[in-house]
Amino acid sequence: MNTKHLEISGVDIEFPTPKGPFKALDNINLKIAEGEFVSLIGHSGCGKSTVLNIVAGLYQATKGGVLLDGKEVTEPGPERSVVFQNHSLLPWLSCYENVELAVKQVFGGTKSKAEMREWIHHNLELVHMSHALDKRPDEISGGMKQRVGIARALSMQPKVLLMDEPFGALDALTRAHLQDSLMEIQKSLNNTVIMITHDVDEAVLLSDRIVMMTNGPAASVGEILEIDLPRPRDRIQLADDPLYNRYRQAVLSFLYEKHSKPDVPRSAPQATASAAPEKQADRQEKVLKEDPAGSREDAA
Ligand SMILES: Nc1ncnc2c1ncn2[C@@H]1O[C@H](COP(=O)(O)OP(=O)(O)OP(=O)(O)O)[C@@H](O)[C@H]1O
Ligand SMILES: [Mg+2]
Repeated sequence: MNTKHLEISGVDIEFPTPKGPFKALDNINLKIAEGEFVSLIGHSGCGKSTVLNIVAGLYQATKGGVLLDGKEVTEPGPERSVVFQNHSLLPWLSCYENVELAVKQVFGGTKSKAEMREWIHHNLELVHMSHALDKRPDEISGGMKQRVGIARALSMQPKVLLMDEPFGALDALTRAHLQDSLMEIQKSLNNTVIMITHDVDEAVLLSDRIVMMTNGPAASVGEILEIDLPRPRDRIQLADDPLYNRYRQAVLSFLYEKHSKPDVPRSAPQATASAAPEKQADRQEKVLKEDPAGSREDAA
């Protein structure tokens, strides 16, 4: 395995604020192998999206940096495609055209029109969306939009797929379907994936490793948990698997015992844990949407 595929080395980031520089990340180090599925988990506001944005090339580290196959990441590029929580499709374009836009940009100079057409169809087929090629985003469900977003990201043939809470806005059943699709796709394409999630079960089910981040400011990598469960993984079988439950327990213990937030009640961590007021409001809305009963054991 090429463990030097993606290297995040000594990354610090400071954001300028009216009160002076705000250090969000302190000395983040992580080596990821080709084809590895890594989840980032940690309380709200700790810096998960910031790490992802640095790997995407959207943010520049203040210190340290990122190497992909030995090449320094300095800007966004199609070899590192991003899937956000909210699909971010263009509303006036059909599913087909949304993917086409990305394909033309990446392969406009190398693939013929027919090859591009076939490639767009192929990627929409991968996410089971061939039946809705001509539908616009407002004519399909949230889960379908997220599928198209994933097809668009995959269509760029990225080495690394960066996913920021890709299923966070979806109901539990749709989320489960998409998790299964993602596992299948990743098995066949062998993309390297970094996925941010607040869902402990999602992290254990999908990941080869779970990277648990300490609370910010100046967050760093707290612990890394290797998930040594055979694939393909079946959520029903794993529910009673002692090893699965031990992993799950280890993540929960990191989040709620070792790195709990003193001001955060265990029963409703997501609603209060953010360092940023605007994020707090977002999170509260998400908790209410996902789990009116407040019974999930998601991270904050
Ligand atoms: N562009 C920015 N300017 C100033 N501060 C920022 C900026 N981006 C992020 N931050 C701050 O950096 C910290 C980490 O933010 P980040 O969005 O990475 O957290 P997160 O772990 O993704 O949180 P969440 O789980 O709520 O999405 C927060 O305190 C946030 O307010
Ligand atoms: Mg985030």
